[in-house]
Amino acid sequence: MNPNQALWEKGDFTRIAATMRESGEALVASLGITPGLKVLDLGCGDGTTALPEARRGADVLGVDIARNLVEAATRRAQAEGLANCRFQQGDATNLSDLADRRFDLVVTIFGAMFAPKPFDVAKEMVRVTRPGGRIVMGNWIPNDPTLVAQILKISSAYSPPPPDGFISPMTWGVESNVTDRFAAAGVPGDRISFLKDTYIFNAPLRPTAFLAEFRTSYGPTMNAFDAAEQNGKSAELQKELEALFERQNTSRNGSTSIPATFLRVTVRV
Ligand SMILES: C[S@@+](CC[C@H](N)C(=O)[O-])C[C@H]1O[C@@H](n2cnc3c(N)ncnc32)[C@H](O)[C@@H]1O
Repeated sequence: MNPNQALWEKGDFTRIAATMRESGEALVASLGITPGLKVLDLGCGDGTTALPEARRGADVLGVDIARNLVEAATRRAQAEGLANCRFQQGDATNLSDLADRRFDLVVTIFGAMFAPKPFDVAKEMVRVTRPGGRIVMGNWIPNDPTLVAQILKISSAYSPPPPDGFISPMTWGVESNVTDRFAAAGVPGDRISFLKDTYIFNAPLRPTAFLAEFRTSYGPTMNAFDAAEQNGKSAELQKELEALFERQNTSRNGSTSIPATFLRVTVRV
Protein backbone atom coordinates (compact mmCIF):
# COMPACT_ATOMS: atom_id res chain seq x y z
CA MET A 1 0.00 0.00 0.00
CA ASN A 2 1.04 3.61 -0.56
CA PRO A 3 2.93 4.46 2.68
CA ASN A 4 1.14 7.77 2.92
CA GLN A 5 -2.23 6.04 2.80
CA ALA A 6 -1.02 3.46 5.35
CA LEU A 7 0.10 6.25 7.70
CA TRP A 8 -3.30 7.97 7.77
CA GLU A 9 -5.37 4.77 7.77
CA LYS A 10 -3.32 3.40 10.65
CA GLY A 11 -4.90 5.67 13.21
CA ASP A 12 -8.28 7.26 13.62
CA PHE A 13 -7.79 10.92 12.83
CA THR A 14 -11.47 11.60 13.60
CA ARG A 15 -10.52 11.65 17.31
CA ILE A 16 -8.15 14.55 16.77
CA ALA A 17 -10.39 16.25 14.20
CA ALA A 18 -13.19 16.38 16.79
CA THR A 19 -11.09 18.92 18.70
CA MET A 20 -10.53 21.12 15.63
CA ARG A 21 -14.13 21.81 14.57
CA GLU A 22 -14.45 25.37 15.89
CA SER A 23 -11.31 26.55 14.13
CA GLY A 24 -12.38 24.73 10.96
CA GLU A 25 -15.70 26.58 11.01
CA ALA A 26 -13.98 29.91 11.65
CA LEU A 27 -11.58 29.36 8.78
CA VAL A 28 -14.40 28.49 6.39
CA ALA A 29 -16.36 31.57 7.55
CA SER A 30 -13.45 33.68 6.31
CA LEU A 31 -13.41 32.19 2.80
CA GLY A 32 -16.33 34.13 1.33
CA ILE A 33 -18.20 31.00 0.25
CA THR A 34 -21.36 31.63 -1.75
CA PRO A 35 -24.11 29.15 -2.72
CA GLY A 36 -23.17 27.06 -5.73
CA LEU A 37 -19.42 27.71 -5.45
CA LYS A 38 -17.57 24.60 -6.65
CA VAL A 39 -15.16 23.60 -3.91
CA LEU A 40 -12.56 20.84 -3.75
CA ASP A 41 -11.57 20.05 -0.17
CA LEU A 42 -8.31 18.16 -0.61
CA GLY A 43 -7.00 15.93 2.18
CA CYS A 44 -10.41 16.55 3.67
CA GLY A 45 -10.13 14.09 6.58
CA ASP A 46 -13.57 13.56 8.11
CA GLY A 47 -14.84 16.87 6.77
CA THR A 48 -13.86 19.46 9.38
CA THR A 49 -13.85 22.18 6.70
CA ALA A 50 -15.86 20.40 3.99
CA LEU A 51 -19.07 20.26 6.05
CA PRO A 52 -19.08 23.98 6.93
CA GLU A 53 -18.37 24.74 3.23
CA ALA A 54 -21.45 22.69 2.29
CA ARG A 55 -23.57 24.30 5.02
CA ARG A 56 -22.86 27.61 3.29
CA GLY A 57 -24.32 26.18 0.07
CA ALA A 58 -21.12 25.32 -1.79
CA ASP A 59 -21.06 22.29 -4.07
CA VAL A 60 -18.31 20.35 -2.27
CA LEU A 61 -16.16 17.39 -3.28
CA GLY A 62 -13.92 16.08 -0.51
CA VAL A 63 -10.94 13.97 -1.55
CA ASP A 64 -8.70 12.08 0.84
CA ILE A 65 -6.24 9.23 0.53
CA ALA A 66 -7.51 7.45 3.66
CA ARG A 67 -10.57 5.27 3.05
CA ASN A 68 -11.63 5.31 6.71
CA LEU A 69 -11.72 9.11 6.68
CA VAL A 70 -13.67 9.25 3.39
CA GLU A 71 -16.23 6.95 5.04
CA ALA A 72 -16.32 9.02 8.23
CA ALA A 73 -16.81 12.25 6.25
CA THR A 74 -19.60 10.65 4.21
CA ARG A 75 -21.38 9.52 7.39
CA ARG A 76 -21.07 12.98 8.96
CA ALA A 77 -22.49 14.69 5.84
CA GLN A 78 -25.35 12.17 5.60
CA ALA A 79 -26.20 12.64 9.27
CA GLU A 80 -26.64 16.35 8.57
CA GLY A 81 -28.59 15.74 5.35
CA LEU A 82 -26.01 17.65 3.30
CA ALA A 83 -26.75 16.53 -0.27
CA ASN A 84 -24.31 19.08 -1.75
CA CYS A 85 -21.27 17.40 -0.25
CA ARG A 86 -19.68 14.14 -1.36
CA PHE A 87 -16.41 12.40 -0.69
CA GLN A 88 -14.11 10.09 -2.59
CA GLN A 89 -10.72 8.52 -2.18
CA GLY A 90 -7.92 10.15 -4.14
CA ASP A 91 -4.29 11.15 -4.03
CA ALA A 92 -3.29 14.82 -4.13
CA THR A 93 -0.24 13.93 -6.23
CA ASN A 94 -2.45 12.69 -9.04
CA LEU A 95 -6.06 13.88 -9.34
CA SER A 96 -6.42 12.39 -12.82
CA ASP A 97 -10.14 11.65 -12.47
CA LEU A 98 -10.87 15.35 -11.87
CA ALA A 99 -11.24 17.54 -14.96
CA ASP A 100 -9.10 20.63 -15.60
CA ARG A 101 -10.50 23.95 -14.28
CA ARG A 102 -13.36 22.21 -12.51
CA PHE A 103 -13.29 24.12 -9.20
CA ASP A 104 -13.71 27.74 -8.11
CA LEU A 105 -11.91 27.07 -4.85
CA VAL A 106 -9.50 24.40 -3.63
CA VAL A 107 -9.18 24.22 0.16
CA THR A 108 -6.54 22.07 1.79
CA ILE A 109 -6.08 22.53 5.51
CA PHE A 110 -3.14 20.46 6.80
CA GLY A 111 -4.05 18.08 3.97
CA ALA A 112 -2.06 18.37 0.72
CA MET A 113 1.03 19.31 2.74
CA PHE A 114 1.22 15.66 3.84
CA ALA A 115 1.30 14.26 0.29
CA PRO A 116 4.70 13.38 -1.22
CA LYS A 117 5.90 15.04 -4.46
CA PRO A 118 4.99 18.65 -3.57
CA PHE A 119 5.64 19.94 -7.10
CA ASP A 120 3.10 17.43 -8.49
CA VAL A 121 0.62 18.46 -5.78
CA ALA A 122 0.92 22.17 -6.67
CA LYS A 123 0.53 21.33 -10.36
CA GLU A 124 -2.58 19.26 -9.74
CA MET A 125 -4.20 21.89 -7.52
CA VAL A 126 -3.58 24.57 -10.16
CA ARG A 127 -4.82 22.31 -12.97
CA VAL A 128 -8.21 21.65 -11.36
CA THR A 129 -8.78 25.31 -10.40
CA ARG A 130 -10.46 27.58 -12.95
CA PRO A 131 -8.61 30.75 -13.99
CA GLY A 132 -9.76 33.42 -11.55
CA GLY A 133 -10.31 30.79 -8.86
CA ARG A 134 -8.40 30.36 -5.61
CA ILE A 135 -6.37 27.80 -3.70
CA VAL A 136 -6.24 28.13 0.09
CA MET A 137 -3.75 26.02 2.00
CA GLY A 138 -3.13 25.67 5.72
CA ASN A 139 0.40 24.43 6.40
CA TRP A 140 2.20 23.80 9.68
CA ILE A 141 5.45 25.74 10.00
CA PRO A 142 8.79 24.00 10.64
CA ASN A 143 10.39 24.82 14.00
CA ASP A 144 7.41 26.91 15.06
CA PRO A 145 7.22 26.74 18.86
CA THR A 146 3.49 25.83 18.94
CA LEU A 147 1.82 22.44 19.29
CA VAL A 148 1.74 20.59 15.98
CA ALA A 149 5.13 21.68 14.67
CA GLN A 150 6.62 20.58 18.00
CA ILE A 151 4.74 17.23 18.02
CA LEU A 152 6.06 16.49 14.53
CA LYS A 153 9.58 17.65 15.43
CA ILE A 154 9.73 15.59 18.63
CA SER A 155 8.12 12.58 16.88
CA SER A 156 10.65 12.68 14.03
CA ALA A 157 13.54 12.67 16.52
CA TYR A 158 12.34 9.25 17.76
CA SER A 159 11.52 7.85 14.30
CA PRO A 160 13.91 6.10 11.90
CA PRO A 161 15.49 8.38 9.29
CA PRO A 162 13.19 8.89 6.31
CA PRO A 163 14.04 7.19 3.00
CA ASP A 164 16.37 8.93 0.53
CA GLY A 165 14.61 11.63 -1.42
CA PHE A 166 11.91 12.14 1.22
CA ILE A 167 10.67 15.73 1.31
CA SER A 168 9.33 16.76 4.69
CA PRO A 169 5.67 17.92 4.71
CA MET A 170 6.86 20.80 6.88
CA THR A 171 8.65 22.33 3.88
CA TRP A 172 5.18 23.57 2.82
CA GLY A 173 5.36 25.92 5.80
CA VAL A 174 8.24 27.89 4.24
CA GLU A 175 7.12 30.73 1.96
CA SER A 176 9.96 30.36 -0.57
CA ASN A 177 9.12 26.66 -1.10
CA VAL A 178 5.46 27.48 -1.63
CA THR A 179 6.39 30.17 -4.17
CA ASP A 180 8.78 27.82 -6.04
CA ARG A 181 6.20 25.03 -6.22
CA PHE A 182 3.44 27.24 -7.57
CA ALA A 183 5.86 29.03 -9.93
CA ALA A 184 6.70 25.61 -11.42
CA ALA A 185 2.93 25.10 -11.85
CA GLY A 186 2.73 28.39 -13.78
CA VAL A 187 1.53 30.75 -11.04
CA PRO A 188 3.78 33.79 -10.45
CA GLY A 189 4.71 34.86 -6.94
CA ASP A 190 2.63 38.05 -7.03
CA ARG A 191 -0.50 35.88 -7.03
CA ILE A 192 0.41 34.24 -3.74
CA SER A 193 -0.19 35.77 -0.32
CA PHE A 194 0.79 34.53 3.12
CA LEU A 195 -0.65 35.02 6.56
CA LYS A 196 0.14 33.53 9.97
CA ASP A 197 -3.08 32.15 11.39
CA THR A 198 -4.08 30.09 14.44
CA TYR A 199 -6.03 26.89 15.00
CA ILE A 200 -7.18 26.07 18.51
CA PHE A 201 -7.44 22.46 19.66
CA ASN A 202 -10.25 22.22 22.22
CA ALA A 203 -10.72 18.93 24.07
CA PRO A 204 -12.82 18.19 27.17
CA LEU A 205 -9.85 16.27 28.57
CA ARG A 206 -6.77 17.02 30.59
CA PRO A 207 -3.64 17.58 28.43
CA THR A 208 -2.23 14.11 29.25
CA ALA A 209 -5.49 12.47 28.18
CA PHE A 210 -5.47 14.57 25.01
CA LEU A 211 -1.90 13.41 24.33
CA ALA A 212 -3.15 9.82 24.74
CA GLU A 213 -5.49 10.48 21.80
CA PHE A 214 -2.48 11.41 19.65
CA ARG A 215 -0.57 8.33 20.86
CA THR A 216 -3.39 5.99 19.87
CA SER A 217 -5.00 7.80 16.90
CA TYR A 218 -2.60 10.18 15.08
CA GLY A 219 -0.47 8.27 12.52
CA PRO A 220 2.78 10.29 12.85
CA THR A 221 2.72 10.06 16.68
CA MET A 222 1.75 6.36 16.59
CA ASN A 223 4.74 5.64 14.34
CA ALA A 224 7.06 7.59 16.64
CA PHE A 225 5.88 5.56 19.65
CA ASP A 226 6.28 2.30 17.69
CA ALA A 227 9.89 3.22 16.88
CA ALA A 228 10.58 4.53 20.41
CA GLU A 229 9.26 1.30 21.94
CA GLN A 230 11.72 -0.73 19.87
CA ASN A 231 14.57 1.40 21.24
CA GLY A 232 13.29 1.40 24.82
CA LYS A 233 12.63 5.14 24.57
CA SER A 234 8.85 5.36 24.71
CA ALA A 235 8.82 6.68 28.30
CA GLU A 236 11.21 9.44 27.25
CA LEU A 237 9.02 10.36 24.26
CA GLN A 238 5.90 10.33 26.46
CA LYS A 239 7.59 12.64 28.98
CA GLU A 240 8.72 15.08 26.31
CA LEU A 241 5.27 15.25 24.71
CA GLU A 242 3.51 15.52 28.09
CA ALA A 243 5.66 18.52 28.99
CA LEU A 244 4.80 20.08 25.61
CA PHE A 245 1.03 19.57 26.01
CA GLU A 246 1.02 20.87 29.59
CA ARG A 247 3.13 23.90 28.67
CA GLN A 248 0.96 24.87 25.70
CA ASN A 249 -2.41 24.41 27.40
CA THR A 250 -4.20 27.69 28.08
CA SER A 251 -7.26 26.18 29.80
CA ARG A 252 -7.41 26.43 33.58
CA ASN A 253 -10.57 24.34 34.14
CA GLY A 254 -9.26 20.80 33.71
CA SER A 255 -9.78 20.67 29.95
CA THR A 256 -7.40 21.39 27.08
CA SER A 257 -7.25 24.40 24.81
CA ILE A 258 -4.07 24.72 22.79
CA PRO A 259 -3.47 27.28 20.03
CA ALA A 260 -1.24 26.32 17.12
CA THR A 261 0.17 28.67 14.50
CA PHE A 262 0.11 27.84 10.80
CA LEU A 263 0.92 29.43 7.46
CA ARG A 264 -2.17 30.30 5.50
CA VAL A 265 -1.47 30.49 1.79
CA THR A 266 -3.85 32.01 -0.75
CA VAL A 267 -3.13 31.52 -4.42
CA ARG A 268 -5.06 33.39 -7.13
CA VAL A 269 -4.98 31.18 -10.18
C1 LIG B 1 -3.91 16.33 9.47
S1 LIG B 1 -5.15 15.55 8.51
C2 LIG B 1 -6.19 16.97 8.10
C3 LIG B 1 -7.57 16.58 7.64
C4 LIG B 1 -8.56 17.73 7.38
N1 LIG B 1 -8.13 18.60 6.29
C5 LIG B 1 -8.81 18.52 8.60
O1 LIG B 1 -8.63 19.75 8.58
O2 LIG B 1 -9.22 17.94 9.60
C6 LIG B 1 -4.29 15.20 7.01
C7 LIG B 1 -5.16 14.58 5.96
O3 LIG B 1 -4.48 14.54 4.71
C8 LIG B 1 -4.78 13.29 4.09
N2 LIG B 1 -3.74 13.01 3.11
C9 LIG B 1 -2.44 12.72 3.36
N3 LIG B 1 -1.80 12.50 2.20
C10 LIG B 1 -2.71 12.65 1.19
C11 LIG B 1 -2.64 12.54 -0.21
N4 LIG B 1 -1.52 12.19 -0.84
N5 LIG B 1 -3.75 12.77 -0.93
C12 LIG B 1 -4.92 13.07 -0.32
N6 LIG B 1 -5.05 13.17 1.03
C13 LIG B 1 -3.94 12.97 1.77
C14 LIG B 1 -4.80 12.33 5.25
O4 LIG B 1 -5.42 11.12 4.95
C15 LIG B 1 -5.53 13.15 6.31
O5 LIG B 1 -6.93 13.02 6.23
